[in-house]
Amino acid sequence: MPRALTIGRVIASRLIEWQRLHGRHDLPWQNTRDAYRIWLSEVMLQQTQVDTVKPYYLRFVARFPDVRALAAAQPDEVLALWSGLGYYGRARNLHRCAREVLARHGGAFPDEARQLARLPGIGRSTAAAIAVFAFGRRAAILDGNVRRVLCRHAGLHGYPGERSVESELWRIAEAELPSREVERYTQALMDLGATLCVRTRPDCAACPLSSDCRALRDGVVAQLPTPRPRRSVPLRRCAMFVIRRGDEVLVERRAPSGVWGGLWSLPELELPPAATGSAAIEAATAADGLPDAVSLAHEVERRFGLRVTALRPMPPFDHAFTHFRLRVQPLACEPVATGAAAEAPGRAWLALDAAAGAALPRPVKTLLQGLASAQARAA
Ligand code: ADE
Repeated sequence: MPRALTIGRVIASRLIEWQRLHGRHDLPWQNTRDAYRIWLSEVMLQQTQVDTVKPYYLRFVARFPDVRALAAAQPDEVLALWSGLGYYGRARNLHRCAREVLARHGGAFPDEARQLARLPGIGRSTAAAIAVFAFGRRAAILDGNVRRVLCRHAGLHGYPGERSVESELWRIAEAELPSREVERYTQALMDLGATLCVRTRPDCAACPLSSDCRALRDGVVAQLPTPRPRRSVPLRRCAMFVIRRGDEVLVERRAPSGVWGGLWSLPELELPPAATGSAAIEAATAADGLPDAVSLAHEVERRFGLRVTALRPMPPFDHAFTHFRLRVQPLACEPVATGAAAEAPGRAWLALDAAAGAALPRPVKTLLQGLASAQARAA
């Protein structure tokens, strides 16, 4: 059980002073009160680092300068601009949220954290960040970086995903909230967590909170926050058909829910999962359980009405999801009859050089971009 260790407001003035001197002041979503831009940045920054987010954010606001433009967009275009940021549920919620802001709030984001938290994709911490940065409200945030800062400063043990630890952290976050300069304080917590109080090799010597940091005093900085109790994630396997017609490849739209929901991807063939246990998982190859070449060619003909050349294995790759790992065996082939089509709704021939801008999962995009460069070199 976590212990309540901090009482009252002990970190705010030092954080505010430190932010003034050492914090970040020129991020693309700072120095504005535009709730749309602040909301967009906060959603992008959930689970994603600033350097990764910057170019996505800039492209996004260039294409969709306000909530109206985003609400009017085609879901596909939103997904395409998001492609590569991961956690695609965020992109779908983003679009939904824009539409709700228009339909229910006349195009203006509510100015209060509680109301913001009722919108799709806006949790308690994101709602607070928007309320603080866009509307100057007083509300406590608790994202991953802030959790780390508070766990260490308070010497709080226990996995923060556990309810009791989480509620203790929220209690501390609320108790530390100053009555003035909440914006700078909030940015300070984020900046400290991103630049000094980082997960590995934190710079405690430069930290304004080091004098009363319990983790530092007790020599447990590296152990806090307590990591998630380890469990081995299962390994799923699939083959992906890389059916090439000249400089195009056949793609299918995935179901709206589930893994990579709504994105375009290569057609898949599910393979039996590996036996559980880390040794079995390490030993499993992508091709285990793969049907023979003739059955694979039949499968392609059955699904797409295409007769194809023998399927050639390409280098396999793994992709880590939160709850499982996926090991993919790509299989390349070409239709044997020239002009053979595979047209159907939710299916398309994608030009390889358009892969970069398409709404594809990151590893599939990488694979297709590799094919595109190989093709460019051969030309
Ligand atoms: N992480 C989450 N929100 C952030 C913000 N507004 N600035 C920098 N990092 C962040």
